[in-house]
Amino acid sequence: MRKKIALIGGGQIGQILAMIAAQKEMGDIVILDIPDYENPAKGKALDLMEMAPHVNYDANISGTSDYKDIEGSDIVIITAGKPREAGMTREDLLDINIKIITDVANGVKNHAPNAFCLVLTNPLDAMVYVFHKVTGFPKNQVLGMAGTLDTARFRSFLAMELGVSVVDIAGTVLGGHGPTMVPLPRLTTVGGVPLADIADQALIDRVVDRTRNAGTEIVKLFGKGSAFFSPAWSAIVIAESYLKDKRRVLSGAALCEGEYGINGYFIGVPVLISAKGVEKILEISLNDDEKAMLQTTMEKVKQTVAECNI
Ligand code: APR
Repeated sequence: MRKKIALIGGGQIGQILAMIAAQKEMGDIVILDIPDYENPAKGKALDLMEMAPHVNYDANISGTSDYKDIEGSDIVIITAGKPREAGMTREDLLDINIKIITDVANGVKNHAPNAFCLVLTNPLDAMVYVFHKVTGFPKNQVLGMAGTLDTARFRSFLAMELGVSVVDIAGTVLGGHGPTMVPLPRLTTVGGVPLADIADQALIDRVVDRTRNAGTEIVKLFGKGSAFFSPAWSAIVIAESYLKDKRRVLSGAALCEGEYGINGYFIGVPVLISAKGVEKILEISLNDDEKAMLQTTMEKVKQTVAECNI
C-alpha cells in the first residue's frame, strides 16, 4: 500500500511540497487548507493530477478542508499560517500563527494520531512547542523543520564563496530558527578538508552572518511572503528519511530533555530520522564559544515560547 502524506496548508510551501512528493512518488497526497473564495487546495490537487502524464508519477492527490480526509496519514507536514512580509521578524507572526497551529494541532490529534508530524510554521521553535503541547504526541513523533534549511543555506553560501561543489560541503547549524542560530564552521568540511584550512576568518564570518539572516534576505527580495523552494525541499529530505527509514542525520528542532543542557524546549539539534521518527538526538562536544552561542539562542527561544502563554 502507498504511504499517505497530509499537507496542512497548501500555500507557497505546501504546493511545492505536493509537487516534489508527487514527482518522487513518495505516496498519496492530501492537501488540507481553509476554504477561500472557492477551494484552492482541491484545484491545486487536480492540477497536479493533470501534470502526472508528463512526469510519469502514480499518486492520488486530493484537496480538502476536512480533517477526516487526513485519517491514516503516515506523515503530516504543517505549513499552515502566515509568512513574513518585509520588515517583519518571525516573532511578529506569533499572535496569528499560534491560533492557526492550535487549530491544526487539534485536527491532527483527532484524525492522524499516529502520524509523524513536521512543523514549518514560524516562529518555528515556538510553533512546534505549541503543536507538541496541544497534541501531547510522543516526542519522537514531532519535529520542527528549520535546521535542515539553515544547514542547506550555510552549505550553499560556502559553495558560492569557495567556488566548489555544494555536494562536498558537510556541516550543521544548531539553535533557534533566527539570527541567533549557531552555524558550526569548526566542524565543517569540504570534501573531507577542514573549512578552516581553506577559508580565512573573514570569509567564514561573512557566511555565518549571511546564514543567520538568510530568511530575511529572501523576504526583503520578495517584499511579501518568505522562502518556499528551499523550505519545501528541506521538509522533503526529512520526510523521505522517515518514510523510507533512511536513517539520515539532519538538523531539526527536536524536544530536548537534557541534551545540550536543554530541558523541555524544541531547538535545532542533530537528529537521526528513521521509521521511528526522531529516533535520537546526537550530541556534539561543543567548545566554550559554541556553548555560549547555544545558550544565547536558547534564551531567545525561551522568550518566544513564554509569549505563547501555553
Ligand atoms: N488551516 C489550514 N490551512 C491554513 C490555516 C488553517 N487554520 N490558516 C491558514 N492556512 C493556509 C493558508 O490558507 C495558506 O494557503 O496556510 C497557507 C500558508 O501559505 P502561504 O501564505 O503561501 O505561506 P507559506 O509561504 O507557504 O509559509 C507558510 O511556513 O516558513 C513558514 O513563515 C512561513 O509561517 C509561514 C509558513
